[in-house]
Amino acid sequence: MKAREIAPDIYWIGVIDWAVRDFHGYTTLNGTTYNNYLIKDRDITLVDTVKHSFADEGMANLAALVDPSTVKNLVVNHIEDDHMGALARFMELMPKATLYITEKGKSGMERFFETSGWNVKVVKTGDELKTGKYTLTFVETPMLHWPDSMMTYVKEAELLISQDAFGQHLASSARFDDEFVNCASLSELDEAVIDYYANILMPFNTLIKTKIAEIGKLGIPIKTIAPDHGIIWRSNPNKIIQTYLDLAGGKADLRVAVIYDTMWGSTDHMARGILEGIEEEGVSSKLVKLRATPTSVATKELWKSRGYIVGSPTLNNGIFPSVAEFVTNLRGLRPRDRIAGGFGSFGWSGGAVKWLYEQFEAMKLETVGPCLELRYKVLKEDKEKCLEFGRDFARKVKEYHKKFE
Ligand SMILES: Cc1cc2nc3c(=O)[nH]c(=O)nc-3n(C[C@H](O)[C@H](O)[C@H](O)COP(=O)(O)O)c2cc1C
Ligand SMILES: [Fe+2]
Ligand SMILES: [Fe+2]
Repeated sequence: MKAREIAPDIYWIGVIDWAVRDFHGYTTLNGTTYNNYLIKDRDITLVDTVKHSFADEGMANLAALVDPSTVKNLVVNHIEDDHMGALARFMELMPKATLYITEKGKSGMERFFETSGWNVKVVKTGDELKTGKYTLTFVETPMLHWPDSMMTYVKEAELLISQDAFGQHLASSARFDDEFVNCASLSELDEAVIDYYANILMPFNTLIKTKIAEIGKLGIPIKTIAPDHGIIWRSNPNKIIQTYLDLAGGKADLRVAVIYDTMWGSTDHMARGILEGIEEEGVSSKLVKLRATPTSVATKELWKSRGYIVGSPTLNNGIFPSVAEFVTNLRGLRPRDRIAGGFGSFGWSGGAVKWLYEQFEAMKLETVGPCLELRYKVLKEDKEKCLEFGRDFARKVKEYHKKFE
């Protein structure tokens, strides 16, 4: 893909990974991009590299614009493989470049590469690098989403190179938000933002609010936000900032995701009855069968909904594996501002739903009871129990949702 100028003499020179569907276990149905940026100033400066498997393409993109050996500075905003994997290859072409990285980034980088011959400069929030007409300011963003993470602000271009934050896993020939509107639907982009937030940033709501407030206090004007994945925000950068504030502040739709699995169909039968009950209360709902749905997609569905109910049959006194996988992933993500419930079918002593509630409790989630458990089949007289469970849950979700209106 050809380089694109995002500000005078500042270029996107990233690569597009159209085919990646498994991004460290996160299902990326729309692929992704690894964005990096070249500042063609008096001191040529590269911000980030690309994923190791795209090193050749990334280096060719760089060489199309400058002689790589003339690169003076290399900013490493984040040491995860998708941005730093190709670093050693790039450094072969630019051995004299000085690397700018956070303290934590440096110590992590030394675990990945033999860095003894490299010029490395540790930077912290507020440190500046003058490249000629441009001034780069570094802003550490620890735990957004790794301890080493930082952003780079280019003052004279009013450009924030935001690393993973504000990114999306979305491969597209469009580079900018306004181009994306022209060539496809905007809702696909909105969906990609929520998907990324749910799967990567959900645990960091508080940090996100604090960091955005901190950046606001710096009083720096932002015309363009250039993340390291997906579309660059130039038509209305405040929109994506507001979206992040909304998501961090608990924004969700008045809907219920019923997320479950089944061996012989009974838990599925229950899920359908529950869905009907929810709908009767005027709340929209969605069934998400786990073995038919990637975990990351189910997680996004949960995140979009004010309430979610997890269902599982009992298998050998415990939980069904796909449900265990989903809930285990949730333990790290710690969803807040939503209420949870549980249900399932069993044959004799049960165990799955008990396990679910133990997990909810360990995660300190807000749950509503009672749960619903049925032995073997959903008989005619059980249908009403499922409907009522759904109605009751929907009423509680409506009540809970008022807090956020
Ligand atoms: C391999 C296997 C192991 C099971 N282990 C248990 C168990 O330990 N305790 C229990 O109460 N039911 C157990 N069951 C029974 C199921 O929980 C019961 O059939 C339930 O209705 C299945 O729900 P489903 O149709 O949604 O898969 C087991 C079933 C299978 C197939
Ligand atoms: Fe990352
Ligand atoms: Fe990334």
